Amino acid sequence: MKVWTVANQKGGVGKTTTVISLAGLLVQQGKRVLLIDTDPHASLTSYLGFDVDSMQGTLYELYQQPELDDATINHSIQNTEFDGLDLIPASMALATLDKVLGQREGMGLILKRILERLEDRYDYALIDCPPVLGVMMVNALAASSRVLVPVQTEFLAIKGLERMVKTLQIMQRSCPAPLRYTVVPTMYDKRTKASLAALKQLQESYPDNVWNSVIPIDTKFRDASLKHMPPSLYIKKCRGVFAYETLLSYLQRIQDRQGGL
Ligand SMILES: Nc1ncnc2c1ncn2[C@@H]1O[C@H](COP(=O)(O)OP(=O)(O)OP(=O)(O)O)[C@@H](O)[C@H]1O
Ligand SMILES: [Mg+2]
Repeated sequence: MKVWTVANQKGGVGKTTTVISLAGLLVQQGKRVLLIDTDPHASLTSYLGFDVDSMQGTLYELYQQPELDDATINHSIQNTEFDGLDLIPASMALATLDKVLGQREGMGLILKRILERLEDRYDYALIDCPPVLGVMMVNALAASSRVLVPVQTEFLAIKGLERMVKTLQIMQRSCPAPLRYTVVPTMYDKRTKASLAALKQLQESYPDNVWNSVIPIDTKFRDASLKHMPPSLYIKKCRGVFAYETLLSYLQRIQDRQGGL
């Protein structure tokens, strides 16, 4: 199972959209995909049509269990209405974990332990992160084989990326495996000078880590979210979906080159 984490400390850069877009394309390839929503705002969980306030069996409940047995894990996995796509949902209570469990030893590795138990059941796990550096993001980074960092193509977002890269460097010190990351320029508007300039700056500052294409602005993403459907399952032909298809083949290509990661 490949574990891809989508993270950026900056909010509203397209993290959840990236997770749901890649997930839709992966299930269309026939892959078994598990989504993990680690954001207390539960955007991904709501996106998929779940009622966050009344859910039983969430990621929070897994963090409450000292013993992670199969029954507990199974209880937290929700089938979605899309074949091959399951979800471990978020709940608002996740926001309390930093205070309650933040200092407890081994806290950072709980998600990794959960995913190790699910290794044979899924081809991919995609983790959506909150836009804050806290115990959930640390758990997600520690569990991942690749990190995707969506960055809006504008000046302030690039500042935010510097912080995220520092976080990755700090995390790397305690991770035995290399923490590989790919910067994904998002919400690119080729008509604006700001987008062009931001993209150029990204490519100059992170030449080895920036994906060589972009995700354009596309209003179809909002339409798909209103229908609670992964974009590619809602509308096959739009430039946004096409761009995520290109991103997915790029990621799968470098994954094959780097020995399955
Ligand atoms: N390429 C795009 N073109 C147009 N709209 C987009 C694009 N990507 C995302 N959006 C829209 O921008 C908004 C924010 O996107 P999204 O929720 O994916 O960001 P996020 O990084 O997950 O935010 P948060 O940090 O709050 O979790 C959403 O309304 C989404 O539909
Ligand atoms: Mg989000």
